[in-house]
Amino acid sequence: MDLYCVLGNPVAHSRSPWIHARFAELTGQTLSYERRLAPLDGFAATVAAFRAEGGRGCNVTVPFKHEAAALATWRSPAVVLAGAANTLQIDGDTVRAHNTDGPGLVADITVNAGVPIAGRDLLLIGAGGAAAGVLGPLITQRPQRLVVANRTAAKAEELARQHGPLAADFKVDLQACGLDAPALADGFDIVINATASSLGGGEVPVPAHVLKPGALALDMMYGPAAQGFMAWAAAHGATARDGLGMLVEQAAESFLIWRGVRPPSGQVLAELRAIVDGGVTAVS
Ligand code: ATR
Repeated sequence: MDLYCVLGNPVAHSRSPWIHARFAELTGQTLSYERRLAPLDGFAATVAAFRAEGGRGCNVTVPFKHEAAALATWRSPAVVLAGAANTLQIDGDTVRAHNTDGPGLVADITVNAGVPIAGRDLLLIGAGGAAAGVLGPLITQRPQRLVVANRTAAKAEELARQHGPLAADFKVDLQACGLDAPALADGFDIVINATASSLGGGEVPVPAHVLKPGALALDMMYGPAAQGFMAWAAAHGATARDGLGMLVEQAAESFLIWRGVRPPSGQVLAELRAIVDGGVTAVS
C-alpha cells in the first residue's frame, strides 16, 4: 500500500491524517497516511527513514518548510519563490518539492467563501514563512492592490522585492510597510492574518479601519489560535473566517499531485467543520 505522512514538530494534533483518509475513501484510492514527529534537528534523517520504508510523499509542516525546500532534488517555481515547501513527492531518487498552501488559500477564498480576489484590495499581515508561502499565488489572482504589512517592515519590504517581477507580470500594485503605516488607511476588501500574533494571545496587530465594510477577514490558523482575530473582525463588521478551509484545500492540492485525482474538498471541509465545531477531538 502506498505510504504518505505529515511530518512536523509538533504533529500530534494534525488533522491531515483524517483529511487524507477521507479523501482516499471518497475517491476509491488505497493508501496509508501517518503522522511522523521529526526531532527539531532531525528533519533530513526522518525523511530518509521514511523514504527507506517506501514512503511516496509527505506533507511538511512547522518548522520544516524551508528545510523541505532545501532537501528536494526538484522545486516548483512557487517553492523557488517562497523558499518553502509543504509537499514532497518521492519517486526513487527524485524528491519533488511543491507548495500547495497558496493554491489552498486561494481556493478557500474564491470557491469556499465565494469572494473574488481579482480587482480587489488585499492586505496580507505578516512576512514570515506562512506569508511567504502564499504571496505568489495571491499575486497571480490579480488583486488591484496587495499590501504586505509586518511588525518588522524590512521583512515585508524584502518579501515584496522578491515578488516584484511577478507582481509586474500580473500588473498588481504590490506594496510593503509596517503595521501602522499610512498605506493601511484606505481599507481593504480582504484581510489575511499570516502572523503568529494570536498564538501568544496578543492583540490583533492592525487598526480596525483596515476592514472595509463587509470585508473578508481570514486567519490562516484554526481552532483557539484563530479566535482572537475572528472575534475582532466580526466586531468590526467583517466576515470572519479561520484557516480550516485552507487546510483542507492545501491537502486536496497535495492529494491531486500524489494521486492524480481531485478529491471532493468541499464535502470534506463540511464534515471536518462539523467535527471541529462539535468539539469532537478523537479524529485528529
Ligand atoms: P510562520 O512560519 O508561522 O510565518 P515566522 O516565520 O516566525 O512564522 O513568522 C512569524 C510572523 O508573525 C512574522 O511576520 C512576525 O513578525 P516579525 O517579522 O516582526 O517578527 C509575526 N508576529 C509574531 N508575533 C507577532 C505579534 N505579537 N505582533 C505582530 N506580528 C507578530
